[in-house]
Amino acid sequence: MNIVAIIGSNRKESYNKKITTFLQERYQDKLNIEILPIEKMPIYSEDEEFNPITEVKEIKNKISECDGIIIATPEYNHSIPGILKNAIDWFSRVDTVMVNKPVMIFGCSTGTLGTVRAQIHLRQILHSPGISALTLPGNEVYISSVSEKVDKSGKLIHEPTILFLDRVMKNFVEWIEKNKLATNR
Ligand code: FNR
Repeated sequence: MNIVAIIGSNRKESYNKKITTFLQERYQDKLNIEILPIEKMPIYSEDEEFNPITEVKEIKNKISECDGIIIATPEYNHSIPGILKNAIDWFSRVDTVMVNKPVMIFGCSTGTLGTVRAQIHLRQILHSPGISALTLPGNEVYISSVSEKVDKSGKLIHEPTILFLDRVMKNFVEWIEKNKLATNR
């Protein structure tokens, strides 16, 4: 199964990236998880949407062809970071590549609320007409105080979080399979 991952942080030491890498490695026998370089997408402009740069075309193609999408979001000022909103704005136009795509969301923050406010906004955005993605019901993953849940090398070591992610990933894959049956893709 081909899954793409979008990370709402362009920080080198991003926790959201570290957890996504952890998922990539942990489920590599079952899933091919590819992280898309959304930091290469320029600021969206309606003037460019029919003939964007190659990077935008390539990323949109990957979205179009994947079986499912993982979105890892930090919370910036109680919402999603601009880099993530920018990518979503590109995806919402011309070939509307996210329509009916299964999406699993998770988010890490160093604070205690684990991106809950950002994720509420994100779900709302993903259900807008140009996106119309299918968000995995339930299975809300808020990883709070993340700096205490990774080791010095940045590897997730917090067992309850690992077990919860196992359950959510299993639910995501099973839901995609069922969804494929339903949509006959
Ligand atoms: C933050 N951070 C933050 N945290 C939070 O829980 N709620 C918030 O509203 C914000 N706002 C915010 C704004 C900006 C501009 C920055 C840079 C940071 C802290 C944030 O959760 C923390 O930096 C995470 O580690 C960011 O995710 P990555 O880059 O580690 O994936």
